[in-house]
Amino acid sequence: MNTVEIVPIREEYAEGFNRVLGVVARERRYLSFLDAPSIESTRAFIRDNINSGFPQVVALSDDEVVGWCDVTRKARPVHSHVGILGMGLLPAFRGQGLGIKLIERALTAAKEFGFHRVELSVRADNLNAIALYKKAGFEPEGRLRNGVYVDNVHCDLMLMGILLQSAEGNLS
Ligand SMILES: CC(C)(COP(=O)(O)OP(=O)(O)OC[C@H]1O[C@@H](n2cnc3c(N)ncnc32)[C@H](O)[C@@H]1OP(=O)(O)O)[C@@H](O)C(=O)NCCC(=O)NCCS
Repeated sequence: MNTVEIVPIREEYAEGFNRVLGVVARERRYLSFLDAPSIESTRAFIRDNINSGFPQVVALSDDEVVGWCDVTRKARPVHSHVGILGMGLLPAFRGQGLGIKLIERALTAAKEFGFHRVELSVRADNLNAIALYKKAGFEPEGRLRNGVYVDNVHCDLMLMGILLQSAEGNLS
């Protein structure tokens, strides 16, 4: 397999990122949406991340996007110190150490950006992702029982978080 590089998002990667989002969403097992968002909303999402300085990295193989990790700001003013993490890889690129590279790059950028905390929710049956998040330093913080309902099946959602900074400064 060709070398895969991890690079910051750029507007020119919008189509590729949208395609990967669609592939992973249509697997119906991992994400909170079930198909790709519109290309316009993907472009707007990328532009906002670039303009706001929110971390977003993509994995490129042969200049094609094969995965991503982003950390965007939680909406309300009292949550503005919190980033929400999302990530995924095309099936052929999983289990080869790319996930940990993506998340470590994104967490380093999240710390530099100034987020005090990063959080996420993950389906309780997504054992690979939970193992990856623990390896990256996330801790389980709670469980939303039957938090997901897809294809007539309920699944719990695990809430996980990592602290990057206290109010006084860096934790590590
Ligand atoms: C979750 C995901 C991003 C992980 O990326 P990945 O490249 O497959 O993970 P890595 O190869 O970097 O593995 C990192 C760690 O995750 C765990 N892990 C990953 N794949 C695993 C597998 N098949 N079995 C067991 N553990 C696994 C291991 O702890 C591994 O560390 P180790 O190799 O030192 O044991 C990827 O599998 C994916 O895209 N899944 C579908 C989309 C998704 O679930 N997104 C997250 C939604 S919350």
